[in-house]
Amino acid sequence: MFSWHSLQKPFFVLAPMHDVTDRAFRQLVSVIGKPDVMMTEFVSVDGLTHPHSQERLFKYYLSFDERERPLIAQIWGTDPDAFLKAARMIREAGFDGIDINMGCPDKKVVAMGAGVALANDPQRAGAIVAATKEGAGDLPVSIKTRLGFSSYDDAWIDALISFRPAALTMHARTKKELSRVPAHWDTLQDIAPRISKEHIPFIGNGDVVSYEDGIQKVASSGVDGVMVGRGILGCPWFFSSQKDQYETQDAKLSVLLSHAYLFEKYFSGLKNFSMIKKHVKGYVSGFSGAKELRAKIMNTTSAQEIEEVCRQEGYQISVLEEVKRICEQV
Ligand SMILES: Cc1cc2nc3c(=O)[nH]c(=O)nc-3n(C[C@H](O)[C@H](O)[C@H](O)COP(=O)(O)O)c2cc1C
Repeated sequence: MFSWHSLQKPFFVLAPMHDVTDRAFRQLVSVIGKPDVMMTEFVSVDGLTHPHSQERLFKYYLSFDERERPLIAQIWGTDPDAFLKAARMIREAGFDGIDINMGCPDKKVVAMGAGVALANDPQRAGAIVAATKEGAGDLPVSIKTRLGFSSYDDAWIDALISFRPAALTMHARTKKELSRVPAHWDTLQDIAPRISKEHIPFIGNGDVVSYEDGIQKVASSGVDGVMVGRGILGCPWFFSSQKDQYETQDAKLSVLLSHAYLFEKYFSGLKNFSMIKKHVKGYVSGFSGAKELRAKIMNTTSAQEIEEVCRQEGYQISVLEEVKRICEQV
């Protein structure tokens, strides 16, 4: 049974990122270099508990296998009863934990009173945590949030502590700041002793640009671990201990190709292939001819076409052996 407390410090968590950290990406990261914990993209408790959307959402967001463990399902919404039901479903699906999204600044989400809007409604936030814990049984229930809504909110920190989450991830910005200012790691440093005194594993999030940067941020702020989001885009070897393997352009393109085949394996008929293209710039940049190659890859409609385009341009690429095995599994 997974426990946040059993992780060796400092630990690394892959951030939930909608339409980015899907199963294909998590499998790729698991093959190349896995963090200590991964999270799914956020999924709506209303959708999960609605008979019409349930099956589709499970396939789209919540399918996984052993390779991705420990894997935490992240959920969002406003209705405690829906959280309770969704938590039961997630426990039955075999996840290692549940994370409640109380940090999303998206306009539609906030207008509903969900995501970071819950920082302005601690009573509802508390009811949501209690209901999720009830549905989760023995699964750990953690929270991911921001420093506050309009400004840093000390009462929000107190409320979060009173909810007794199994772990707390703090994106070191307010809703108002979105991602426009550098993350306030100094504020995390101020909060860390309070959270630590309560024996709640505390995870800092915001602008971690490399593994070494993560280690340094843990040391200087006193958090227990870090969560990495944008830093892994186009760089799925972020957590690998053998990053130099991925320095050549052939190696990077081979990873892109492996990613594309994984995407097809899991999402063919479910998601449009063009979704993989948001990763392309990360893999294909910083070398002569990158712009032209990128333009050609952007016009492809399948993994095989990516392979053909790269070969025609003279790159020596191949699907990673482990990914080949995954793709062959039925
Ligand atoms: C494309 C994208 C999608 C995101 N989706 C989610 C999400 O589903 N759930 C969530 O809690 N945060 C989400 N986030 C926020 C990240 O998890 C993270 O908190 C934020 O990017 C700051 O960390 P970073 O500086 O390491 O990227 C998303 C961020 C990005 C860029």
